[in-house]
Amino acid sequence: MPTALITGITGQDGQYLAEHLHGEGYRVVGLITGQRNPRSETMAADLPYVELVPGDLADLASLIAALEYTQPDEVYNLGAISFVALSFKQPELTANVTGLGVLRLLEAIRLVGGVNNPIRFYQASSSEMFGKVRETPQNELTPLHPRSPYGSAKVFGHNTTVNYRESYGLYACSGILFNHESPRRGLEFVTRKVTNAVARIKLGLQDEVALGNLDAKRDWGFAGDYVQAMHLMLSQPEPDDYVIATGQTHAVRDFVQLAFAAAGIDDWERYVRIDPRFFRPAEVDLLVGDASKAASELGWEPQMSFEELVTSMVTNDIEIERRKLK
Ligand code: GDD
Repeated sequence: MPTALITGITGQDGQYLAEHLHGEGYRVVGLITGQRNPRSETMAADLPYVELVPGDLADLASLIAALEYTQPDEVYNLGAISFVALSFKQPELTANVTGLGVLRLLEAIRLVGGVNNPIRFYQASSSEMFGKVRETPQNELTPLHPRSPYGSAKVFGHNTTVNYRESYGLYACSGILFNHESPRRGLEFVTRKVTNAVARIKLGLQDEVALGNLDAKRDWGFAGDYVQAMHLMLSQPEPDDYVIATGQTHAVRDFVQLAFAAAGIDDWERYVRIDPRFFRPAEVDLLVGDASKAASELGWEPQMSFEELVTSMVTNDIEIERRKLK
C-alpha cells in the first residue's frame, strides 16, 4: 500500500486529495499543526481514515520526525498561509511558512530520503506567481511577476522545488494551479464569501454583502478536479511542472451575478456594497491559464463547468443555512 503525506490536510485541497488518494488505495497521513488543533476533530469525523502526525512547516526538526515516522512514497505540500489579503498584513509569517516552509520540507526529504531518494514531492505553486501578467494566457514558461507577499513566497517555493530537482535529482513537481473552488472553500475567499452571503440573503438572514474589486478576472475551476492533477504529476516517469487551469476567465462581478441568479435573485446590485477595506495594495487584474501541457502529457482536463461550480456552491450554502435554522 503506497503512503502519502499531505501538509495542509485540513484545507479544501487537503480534504479532496485525501479522499482521492484513499480511493486509489493509499495510506493517507496528514501533517497537523498546533497544540489541540480543533480541526483535528473535524478531520476525525469527516475523514476517519486519515492518520494525523504533528508537525509545522516553520519547524525543520518536526518535518524530519514526521517523515521518519510516516515513511512516505509521496509528499504533497499544500500547507501555506494561502489568503493573499492576509499576506499583506503578515508578510513575514507568509514568507516563513509559504516560502521557507517549502525549503524546509525539501531539506527534510533530502536528509531522510538518502541516496537514490525514493520520495516523490509535489509543490502547490500558484497562478498568483504570474501577478502582473506578461502574456495571456499564462503557461509554464510565462515570466513571473508576483504582486503580493503571498505571490513572492510562492515564487520562492516554486524556484526552490525546481532547484532541488536539478541539484539533487529529486522527483519534485510544481503544479501551477489557477483558482479552484468548491463548497469546501474557506469563507475568506471571494467565491465562498459570495455564495454564503447569497444563501443568507435568500433566507432573509442578511441584508447585503460588502466586497472589494469586482473587476478582477480569475480562471476558476473545481478543486475536486484539480487534486487529480496533483496525483497524476507524481505518477509520471519524469518529474515536471504543469499549469492546471480551465482556460476561461470571468470577472468577480460575473461570479456575483451568477451566484445571485442561482438563488433566483436577478437584481444583485441591490445587495452588494463596495467597501475599500477589501481592496488590496496591489491587485492581480487578470488570470487565465493554458493547461495544454497537462492535457497532452497527463491526460488531465477539467470536468466541471463554471456554471455548475457556482450553482453547486450556492445550493450547498443554502442547504447549510437552512439546516442551521432547524
Ligand atoms: N477575498 C476577497 N474578498 N476577494 C475579493 C473581495 C472580497 O471581499 N472583493 C473582491 N475580491 C477580489 C480580490 O481582490 C481578487 O482579485 C479576487 O476577488 C479573488 O480573491 P480570492 O478569492 O481571495 O483569491 P485570490 O485570487 O486572491 O487567491 C486564490 O487563488 C490563488 C491562485 O491564483 C487563493 O486560493 C490563493 O491561495 C491561490 O494561490
